[in-house]
Amino acid sequence: MPHLRIALLGCGNVGRALLAMVAEKSDALREERDLTLTVTGGLTRSAGGWIAPGGVDAAALLASGWPGGPAPAGAQPFTGDGVAFVREAPADVLVELTALNPLTGQPATDHIRAALESGKSAVTANKGPIAHAYRELRDLATKNGQRLRFESAVMDGTPIFGMVEACLPVTRIANLRGPLNSTSNYVLSRMAQGESLEDALSGAQALGIAEADPSYDLEGWDASVKATVLANVLMNADLRPADVRREGLGAEAMRRAQVEMAPERTLKQMVEVTRDGDKIIARVYIVALPGADILGRLSGMETGVQLRTDTLGELTLIEGEGGPGQTALGALADLVAIAHEKR
Ligand SMILES: NC(=O)c1ccc[n+]([C@@H]2O[C@H](COP(=O)([O-])OP(=O)(O)OC[C@H]3O[C@@H](n4cnc5c(N)ncnc54)[C@H](OP(=O)(O)O)[C@@H]3O)[C@@H](O)[C@H]2O)c1
Repeated sequence: MPHLRIALLGCGNVGRALLAMVAEKSDALREERDLTLTVTGGLTRSAGGWIAPGGVDAAALLASGWPGGPAPAGAQPFTGDGVAFVREAPADVLVELTALNPLTGQPATDHIRAALESGKSAVTANKGPIAHAYRELRDLATKNGQRLRFESAVMDGTPIFGMVEACLPVTRIANLRGPLNSTSNYVLSRMAQGESLEDALSGAQALGIAEADPSYDLEGWDASVKATVLANVLMNADLRPADVRREGLGAEAMRRAQVEMAPERTLKQMVEVTRDGDKIIARVYIVALPGADILGRLSGMETGVQLRTDTLGELTLIEGEGGPGQTALGALADLVAIAHEKR
């Protein structure tokens, strides 16, 4: 039976949801996918690290209380930084779930680079390294016979990358667009009902959907990072988030959108990437979408992306609800795919 050893770097909302899912689905993973998973090391910024060459199963790791409580029984403490942890952990795959830095992609990029250089594949839900260093990391993985997968990076567990890879061979995407930042779209839907930006943002924070620094959402940085990942991975561009034409929820954008507004329209913060000859242009902007547009019908928290392709025409993927559970599924799907590819 194939067995993957995982090193877990970062264990917050998504890391804990992944452990819970692996624990709950361990029988299904074994019976349906012929796969077992164990964790051979863990590290977080404040809890520190541990290494257990024999591996700890997900249920036992959750039961240990780590990272809030002590490391699991039998584990050796690890005191180095993230890069040293990745190099030393006796694992087949690094699961990188540290917090996003949209401006640099660090230190997650260094973590993934260290994994690919030390005989490990890498799975991440962190879009920073994919936005800032996709080509380098992809080529490094290929050179070293490893895999790099990041299904959750843009649409939580909704399988945008897996679908394009598995189901759209020889396809050229001319344009993609969609409301991809749930906080901005939630805030806009509340503002359209007459709430102030501050009150609408407090609502998003109460729901736990806003980034720790809400300016990442409202000024369009989160959406710009997503636009960059989609452009680079699906349309072979080589952009960085700073290359994206970015419009946040500032006064000017809101004034323009209010002018375009009509009863059947919905305000959205949109990501759009367009192929224009040899150039790929990415932008984030506020728009009042008509009700006839399928993306205009998405409710405040829903996200979606529509691809315009030369094979299938238009294809729209809608995510009903995103969160740590869905994101954990994307990471688990990546692990299953890596186990399959390594056979
Ligand atoms: N939450 C979602 O629904 C969702 C959806 C899609 C993608 N993502 C992405 O998934 C990743 C994880 O999200 P999350 O919600 O689990 O975040 P989170 O709850 O804030 O957890 C982040 C984890 O990373 C650790 N960490 C941060 N910097 C570190 C460093 N330099 N070295 C070692 N550990 C470090 C934190 O440790 P301490 O707690 O000890 O500081 C914590 O364990 C993020 O990149 C996020 O953008 C999340």
